[in-house]
Amino acid sequence: MKDSFSQSAVNCPRPILAEDTNQSRELFQRAKCALAGGISSSARATTAGRISYPLYFTSGRGARVWDADGTEFIDYLLGYGSAILGHSSPIIKNAVTTHLDCGTMFGTCNPVEVELAEQICRMVPCAELVRFSNSGSEVVCAAVRAARGYMGRSLVLKFEGHYHGWIDVLAVSNRPGVEECGPLEHPNSCPHSRGIPKGLTDDVIVCPFNHPKILTDILDRHDGKVACIIAEPIVANNACIQPLPGFLEHLRTECDRRDIVLVFDEIVTGFRVAPGGAQELFSVIPDLAVFSKGLGGGFPISALAGRRKIMDLVAANAVKHGGTYNGNPLCAAAALATIRHIAEPQTIAKIRQSGEAITSAARKASEEFRIPCAVQGEGGMFQIVFNEDGRPMTHYRDLFRVNAPRQAAFWQSLLDQRILCNSSSSACWFTSAAHTEEDVEITSRAIHHAMKSIA
Ligand SMILES: Cc1ncc(COP(=O)(O)O)c(C=O)c1O
Repeated sequence: MKDSFSQSAVNCPRPILAEDTNQSRELFQRAKCALAGGISSSARATTAGRISYPLYFTSGRGARVWDADGTEFIDYLLGYGSAILGHSSPIIKNAVTTHLDCGTMFGTCNPVEVELAEQICRMVPCAELVRFSNSGSEVVCAAVRAARGYMGRSLVLKFEGHYHGWIDVLAVSNRPGVEECGPLEHPNSCPHSRGIPKGLTDDVIVCPFNHPKILTDILDRHDGKVACIIAEPIVANNACIQPLPGFLEHLRTECDRRDIVLVFDEIVTGFRVAPGGAQELFSVIPDLAVFSKGLGGGFPISALAGRRKIMDLVAANAVKHGGTYNGNPLCAAAALATIRHIAEPQTIAKIRQSGEAITSAARKASEEFRIPCAVQGEGGMFQIVFNEDGRPMTHYRDLFRVNAPRQAAFWQSLLDQRILCNSSSSACWFTSAAHTEEDVEITSRAIHHAMKSIA
């Protein structure tokens, strides 16, 4: 592995050039002949700034990752937040190795899933019963089905721009264009993809986040017909927009008043912003919640957790939920080791500390160079967004005001300094328990340099 940092990449950045990425270029050429579009997920980047193909990564340790040509980066993409204890974590490795020796997949009940469910019930306020799946999208589907089955109603209310997975049931208004959105008071329900039947989008009502009055008006118009409201409590997929004070409480009150199931999508916030997720952080307890990324520490596992009165329908098999790999011992062991570590108070404190040091450096640099920029988020998940006034964003349509060329130039400068973060302005940076003070210091200097370069 080439050690980019010992060559002072940050102090004297040398742009990443095509000649530094020969392996990635060759791999993408091959990939396009065998993988549709050369990628395994529509969300995956197919370029890396000025390089017209994605970088391929081959190894990671702690907060560092190495691409196929051996260049080292400090990682804030972090498997979209999944590698919460860092890459190749010894804690997870130990737990998993034991299970590799014992067999990984029986398709039967196993003791690890029991221990994991018990641990989640101890940590997550709304969790009275739990079910496991493999991805975030799957448990979102399970939550919506459970809510509809419990309420005997079909409408689901979601917030514009919030992402709840790629599956038809909620792939609505994930990222509608300006001209598609419709009026703020009455947003259109836009299918996220071709192939989603209109009948499904008709069952999803869309509302702007952080607008209590509009929410109440929309619910009035559909009174008695809404099965559940689903929200990302901190909007990881909209540049880490925070709930305005009182908004989550308003959701809880409206759901109680109208007898609607409240679902928190904690796929990103879960086991990250607090041991019990955003519901613990904000003291607003939903009826159902879904978890995945931070839960598995990089292994594919997800959980639906919730109130007994709703989950009993799943228990009784009245609401069906299945999956060959659900609760398999390998992923359950990785998750158990991960969240046991998260339950120790110093773990999230460390994740938070790194995040706060970086956001503080970003704020200082934006002031020094007088670049308007919203630095928003919570502890170990945040975003640095260049808009025209530096005011924090409050709902999806604020993202239309992002200065895209400036955002791209900032990201490119960071990549050139071997700092890897998500290239999308609507995504987040993530810190892990493995980011060191040195990582944070290097990154803070890189941010300073990047801000200077775009001023
Ligand atoms: C908030 C949120 N919900 C659901 C999902 C879907 O999870 P998965 O990609 O594991 O299906 C994601 C994925 O990024 C997410 O960010």
